[in-house]
Amino acid sequence: MLTEYLPDKYDIECTFVDSSNLEEVKTAIRPNTKLIHIETPGNPVINISDIEEIAKIAHSNNVLLSVDNTFASLYNQRPTSLGADLSIESLTKYINGHGDAMGGAVLGKKALIDKIRKEAMVNLGGTISPFNAWLIMRGAVTLPLSMKQHNSNALKVAKYLESLPFVTFVSYPGLKSHPGHEIAKKQMKNGFSGALSFGIAADYDTHNAFVSHLKIITSAVSLGHDESLIVFFGPNDERQHLYPSEFSNGFFRLSVGIEDVEDIINDLEQGFRKVGLIY
Ligand SMILES: Cc1ncc(COP(=O)(O)O)c(C=O)c1O
Repeated sequence: MLTEYLPDKYDIECTFVDSSNLEEVKTAIRPNTKLIHIETPGNPVINISDIEEIAKIAHSNNVLLSVDNTFASLYNQRPTSLGADLSIESLTKYINGHGDAMGGAVLGKKALIDKIRKEAMVNLGGTISPFNAWLIMRGAVTLPLSMKQHNSNALKVAKYLESLPFVTFVSYPGLKSHPGHEIAKKQMKNGFSGALSFGIAADYDTHNAFVSHLKIITSAVSLGHDESLIVFFGPNDERQHLYPSEFSNGFFRLSVGIEDVEDIINDLEQGFRKVGLIY
């Protein structure tokens, strides 16, 4: 969308930067910049960007800030309270929480939202179906309960993975080892959400075999569902050049679900055992 659709259709150009680096954000602003769009935690490396600081940079340059808040969910993080002009949620993920409906929401001040409603919903047809809206409204009622479980499970799973000698890195903002931990503590009020990524010292086939041996955790690209989901990003991923160097051997993104955490950890453990990483 940012590299083809927007430039080709609307003549809108984008500059890609690592938004966890404030200097990169500052230096990328051009005289015609209208919007800074960030994602925090960011998919799939789970890096953290400082919403308050980027809002200051944006506003001092007369630029709007929008934050894709999907990985945090509104239970953990409220971008518009931290200075962002717009907060974007894929409702498909944590807000619905059951992995059975698709939807999205944009939150912000009325003047901006009215404009989006008129142009995007009426002219472009970005309108949710009533059945999906109904499912999402039902799912959202238990958001605080499910997020508490995602937050607590993911922290335990991250600590378990970090304790294993063949795990090369764990990227989870709740860990002290995460470079964005202090910023995450400041802006993620209730917890660090359910998504983490990690690497193992193993070849390509072992990565695939590990995923295929998992019994409770499902191999699927989405996240924020009640059940745990895992994706293997191989070393040939087309966005590899944008990831930190420790990700270059390929890595897993794990969306920790709300199952009993012992079941999740036992499933990972039996998978590691089957591929010979644990004896
Ligand atoms: C951060 C983020 N925002 C938005 C989306 C789009 O969500 P949807 O599936 O609701 O279109 C995704 C999908 O993976 C995502 O990861």
